[in-house]
Amino acid sequence: MKTPISKRQLLGIVSLFALFIISDGRTLNTNHQKIRAVNLGGWLVTEGWMKPSLFDSIPNKDFLDGAALQFKSKTIGKYLAAELGGGTIIVANRSSASGWETFRLWRINETSFHMRVFNKQFLGLDSTGINLVAVSNNYQTSGVFQIIRKSDDSNRVRILAPNGFYLQAKTEDVVTADSKGDGQWRDDDPSVFELTIAQRLQGEYQVTHGYGPLKAPQIMKNHWSTFIVENDFKFIATSGLNAVRIPVGWWTASDPTPPKPYVGGSLQYLDMAFLWAKKYNLKVILDLHAAPGSQNGFEHSSSRDGFIEWGQTEETIQETVRVIEFFTSRYANNPSLYAVELINEPNANGVSLSILTKYYEAGYKVVRKHAPDAFVILSNRLGGDSKELFPVASGMTNVVIDVHYYNLFSSIFDDMTVEQNIDFVQTNRSNELQAITTSNGPLTFVGEWVAEWQVRGATKEEYQRFSKAQLDVFGRASFGWAYWSLKNVNNHWSMDWMIKNGYINL
Ligand SMILES: *[C@@H]1O[C@H](CO)[C@@H](O)[C@H](O)[C@H]1NC(C)=O
Ligand SMILES: *[C@@H]1O[C@H](CO)[C@@H](O)[C@H](O)[C@H]1NC(C)=O
Ligand SMILES: *[C@@H]1O[C@H](CO)[C@@H](O)[C@H](O)[C@H]1NC(C)=O
Repeated sequence: MKTPISKRQLLGIVSLFALFIISDGRTLNTNHQKIRAVNLGGWLVTEGWMKPSLFDSIPNKDFLDGAALQFKSKTIGKYLAAELGGGTIIVANRSSASGWETFRLWRINETSFHMRVFNKQFLGLDSTGINLVAVSNNYQTSGVFQIIRKSDDSNRVRILAPNGFYLQAKTEDVVTADSKGDGQWRDDDPSVFELTIAQRLQGEYQVTHGYGPLKAPQIMKNHWSTFIVENDFKFIATSGLNAVRIPVGWWTASDPTPPKPYVGGSLQYLDMAFLWAKKYNLKVILDLHAAPGSQNGFEHSSSRDGFIEWGQTEETIQETVRVIEFFTSRYANNPSLYAVELINEPNANGVSLSILTKYYEAGYKVVRKHAPDAFVILSNRLGGDSKELFPVASGMTNVVIDVHYYNLFSSIFDDMTVEQNIDFVQTNRSNELQAITTSNGPLTFVGEWVAEWQVRGATKEEYQRFSKAQLDVFGRASFGWAYWSLKNVNNHWSMDWMIKNGYINL
């Protein structure tokens, strides 16, 4: 017996048909709509400078992982150094401080630390149990140290060694752990050092490890659930943007039980981002911002201590390929998945082109296995040649090269005026972009830019001209662009603020 098609069934057929049209549209990638995106930076991959309050209640928060410490002996007036950068003794004979004189913390808990030197060895005591050396390549067999600050002068410190005694610089080349450290903190006390914190990292590793396993899960959950919400997607969709670039970290692929110190729960928020993107018809560029071992040494790649160790073992590459496969297969059926960026900003000073090429080939393959039509984005190396990825891209389809254009992070911008900044975008950036935007090569994407510069006290009208110049020039990238970022305590870095306050007009 035949039954008439119900309204409900009819609706089902119609929406199925609509789905076909949408999914079919995605295969027509040659006619793709240019991306006008905003990055959701600082959300699923922490960056402390974007939201400093996230770090507020970490105990002993000056001494997080990767804090780069320098110690000047008060009696000798010279810096502690790992002689030859590591592999031998510690000396106190260097009159200025840079690499060899820097000790990077590996935090155990708020009071106890390992310290890593320039050549990556860890600080410890030699077989006499007294002489300080940097010879161990294994942190577990190295030493556990404490750094005790003078209560009314936090830059005056003593260092407690694993044998229960304090370090003292007896002479320029004899540094031992055999002081009781009970004097009056005077300048003639060889156990007293002047502390300089040369660098701090405030990334995902630091925030989760800093709070520790009991507090970090709740802190991170609060952050994830408030920093970016559904309303932000609604705002983005009604602001003249059509996509979001979402930085993610490798640990999210092993949710809900990522390796320590990372905490579970982030995947749920990425899932929600995809739901919201679908609801508001926004495309998603999934961007692996943090790869295991760190591909650039910055906090935004969740570096533990500033060293670049991604790509130095086969395991880090294999694991990254698995991470890409996990994300791609999870979201391949969401119509919003538009592009997968295999790794963000690998650093030429640490990641070779041949290793990166090998990874890009493997990553491309694994994306294609699950998402035949998605764009695959290859980020240029920081400090690499702008066309060096052309050979590897030539064997790929729907492939995009990502370049990041900031009028910052280089001394050439230090003294530029407003006009010079705008001219640099209109002339130099425009030329650079044109040189890599070819008719038969990969598409081009300015995946990060910002209307911020070194100019101080610029007017709103000057910011408007600067953002407009960048929108004009970066609008010529064949794939499109993405602003860094949606939310940031620094207003000009917040596209949300810039749009709402009329600094950016789309
Ligand atoms: C910190 O770590 C050290 C070394 O593992 C341990 O001896 C100490 O008890 C720990 N302190 C706290 C407060 O957990
Ligand atoms: C520091 O001491 C070591 C060990 O005695 C010595 O080899 C080195 O030349 C000294 N460096 C300086 C800058 O004096
Ligand atoms: C920008 O391009 C112009 C013209 O090619 C060149 O003279 C100038 O040196 C470039 N500026 C910088 C800062 O590289």
